Amino acid sequence: MRALITGINGFVGDHLANYLQSCGIEVFGTTSQIDSRKSTSNSEIFVNDLTNEISIIQLLNEVRPEHIYHLAGQSNVKESWESKQGTLNTNVNLTLNLLEAARKSEISDIVRILTIGSSEEYGRVADMTVSIDENVSLQPTNPYGISKAAVSYFAKQFFDAYGLKVIHARTFNHIGPGQRLGFVVTDFASQIVELEKVKGEKIIKVGNLEAQRDFTDVRDIVRAYYLLLSTASTSFGDVYNVCSGVPVTIRSILDKLLSLSEQSIEVIIDTNKLRPIDIPLYIGNNQKIKQLTNWSPEYTLDATLFDVLDYMRAKNKVVQ
Ligand code: GDD
Repeated sequence: MRALITGINGFVGDHLANYLQSCGIEVFGTTSQIDSRKSTSNSEIFVNDLTNEISIIQLLNEVRPEHIYHLAGQSNVKESWESKQGTLNTNVNLTLNLLEAARKSEISDIVRILTIGSSEEYGRVADMTVSIDENVSLQPTNPYGISKAAVSYFAKQFFDAYGLKVIHARTFNHIGPGQRLGFVVTDFASQIVELEKVKGEKIIKVGNLEAQRDFTDVRDIVRAYYLLLSTASTSFGDVYNVCSGVPVTIRSILDKLLSLSEQSIEVIIDTNKLRPIDIPLYIGNNQKIKQLTNWSPEYTLDATLFDVLDYMRAKNKVVQ
């Protein structure tokens, strides 16, 4: 079996490539520029920024993947406020290029494609205390959420109009080793690891601690992605939430990371880290993916936070 991962050098792409290879799948990837993962004897990386439909068609005809995992995109909610057009362009137009290329390629009848969405597509739901299932209407409250909602509509449209076998994952917060700065766990963990090296007054700067999010380890997420594409009875043109179903306050994430470091650190709210709109609570409902694939998360939140700190400490040592 051959799989193509767009954005293979990103946080999720790297974990997905490792997971697929461990399942014996031949992995191919695209990246906008070669930086970390390089071609090896059982994986090949192509530089393709997905802006040119013809070059994507050529790539698909050459690689002939059975699965495409479309991970390339702008994934940061806060940054989407600063770059609204950039976020729409990257998330919507590149997806359209890929879907158009796939339907015009020689593999259009066989290839299965996973597009990646977000809980931010749901936005302001009527009753936040009820877990959100896939039938809840979309009311995104930030540019990122709007871009991912558009992707979900196009995924369905390409199946309805052309029979392209597309599935859309609505993924809630995912965290783990290797995530870049700009997301809450890495933002907290990186500061804590830096503070482990200094003496004297220790201060950590944080944003909104009252929000509650539904976190899953990235290693569980990539397994879910594979199951969604490989399960025989998967329903194409459909949407599947990928989430734990357990809400956690950002404050408790901070407390846990601080307790794992055993330092005395003062916490300061940095207003630059606040957002124009920040949904207070997301709880996902994962019954649909569970029923289809039997998937459920295996990593505990504590284990994930421990691994993130561990990864950051190791990275910090190498950099020094
Ligand atoms: N990034 C960040 N940094 N967020 C902070 C901080 C901080 O220092 N302090 C508090 N927060 C709060 C944010 O205001 C938000 O309420 C919450 O922590 C989570 O923020 P992020 O980790 O940036 O994630 P997100 O929820 O905005 O988006 C993530 O999850 C989506 C699915 O729900 C991203 O991974 C998206 O790509 C993903 O689709």
